[in-house]
Amino acid sequence: MAKAKSKYVCNQCGSEFAQMFGRCPDCSAWGSLIEEAIAPVAEIHSLAQSINKSSKTKNSPAAPKSSVTLAQIGDDHQTKLPSGYEELDRVLGGGIVPGSLVLIGGEPGIGKSTLLLGMAQQLMQRYPTLYVCAEESAQQVKLRSQRLGLTDANSSQLYLLPETDLETILQELRSLRPPVAVIDSIQALYFANLNAAPGSVSQVRECTSALMRVAKRENISLFIVGHVTKDGAIAGPKVLEHLVDTVLYFEGDRYATHRLLRSVKNRFGATQEIGVFEMVEQGLLEVRNPSELFLGNRDDPAPGTATIVACEGTRPLVVELQALVSPTSYSSPRRTTTGIESNRFLQILAVLEKRIGIPLSKLDAYVSAAGGLNVAEPAVDLGVAIALCASFRDRTVDPRTVLIGEVGLGGQVRAVSQLDLRLKEAAKLGFKRAIIPNGAVIQDYGLEIIPVTKVLDAIVAALPVTSKMKEDPEHSDL
Ligand SMILES: Nc1ncnc2c1ncn2[C@@H]1O[C@H](COP(=O)(O)OP(=O)(O)OP(=O)(O)O)[C@@H](O)[C@H]1O
Ligand SMILES: [Mg+2]
Ligand SMILES: [Zn+2]
Repeated sequence: MAKAKSKYVCNQCGSEFAQMFGRCPDCSAWGSLIEEAIAPVAEIHSLAQSINKSSKTKNSPAAPKSSVTLAQIGDDHQTKLPSGYEELDRVLGGGIVPGSLVLIGGEPGIGKSTLLLGMAQQLMQRYPTLYVCAEESAQQVKLRSQRLGLTDANSSQLYLLPETDLETILQELRSLRPPVAVIDSIQALYFANLNAAPGSVSQVRECTSALMRVAKRENISLFIVGHVTKDGAIAGPKVLEHLVDTVLYFEGDRYATHRLLRSVKNRFGATQEIGVFEMVEQGLLEVRNPSELFLGNRDDPAPGTATIVACEGTRPLVVELQALVSPTSYSSPRRTTTGIESNRFLQILAVLEKRIGIPLSKLDAYVSAAGGLNVAEPAVDLGVAIALCASFRDRTVDPRTVLIGEVGLGGQVRAVSQLDLRLKEAAKLGFKRAIIPNGAVIQDYGLEIIPVTKVLDAIVAALPVTSKMKEDPEHSDL
């Protein structure tokens, strides 16, 4: 049988096949398979050997030939290097770990290069720092650095390398041996011996592992920029996330100035931390007190507003919900949702009517999540219920309260997943109170926790009834 000369690689999940499929058998993505020539094994080996050879001459610690006990391994006293940005250090788990690989993903134009150039600019005051600008010319980077306030006099230790060829970059890393280097971006790199286009799965994977070998051997911390696909995953598949030590996402609303840095994987620290920045003309500013950024316009909350904490995978997001109920002029009232699952919305309306006694069947009802966000998960139910109730009574919920819980058909509040994550996020963003399902084990988050069993309890807690209303139940609106 003739030996296959090409393989078919899925650009989404990285699986390889001997034949072409319209749909990836592994991850079911359509049209994600691309043909790639199989690189002669000898060539890949020669790259690996060249990496090994050149490092033998260096005084880097030799890899152990046989297994050792933990006690035999000397303390390296590797202190984490401060990156110059406290917000970045926080997300990294205290600073840059020597020899670690950090992958930074984010939408085009969100500010990845700005962030890393800003970091390099602060690092180079202490160490030589290498910035591989594979996507831009050195001139373009210089232009950006001038915008960030860098002058020629104070940038003598910042080395720019406008290069896409992997071997040249590896050589430069080995000869310069900077403590920290930036690769902007991995999709632009090219290993000539590999017969695949830059940005393809094979290239991205091969380049990353070659970079990783040099980084570990020479104790260089690498920050690698990765572009994201239209669904927000780092392009070039999950394999990349497995290779590196830390995966960070840089995100934000393109129309607003704040940017969030989140870690989704970190071998050296917690993954729930977020770093908050603000994009200004002079680059990225750190936002030390993010709650002000998010709560700045919340001094005058509108009736019918409630704040919830949704989880996007492992990423908690505090989101404002707005509801509006008003008398209908149609024979059947309108129910419209934006960013909320409409079936759940109808269910919550039914629970409020039947279990709480709020007469909603003659009222139009609208609910929307702020910022065009889609929060289709049960944990937002309680927030929707309270927002509806607040709009019905024309009352406001305290803007520093978050609501978390699923609403059952019997009017009970059910437990939700990742409560811990959600409460941490609310506390981090400066919220003061959380109304949550009863029965959860709670640690101290710096939040006042109000556990509730029923939706009615949550209504009482979120929209306290004044004594006058209590005396006159007809007017309590319940
Ligand atoms: N003069 C300026 N004033 C304010 N903000 C600016 C200015 N110039 C650029 N920006 C901001 O910087 C952003 C571009 O940043 P940057 O090039 O770092 O993004 P990136 O994530 O590296 O993009 P790419 O994916 O294209 O590499 C712009 O979207 C804009 O918000
Ligand atoms: Mg860039
Ligand atoms: Zn696939």
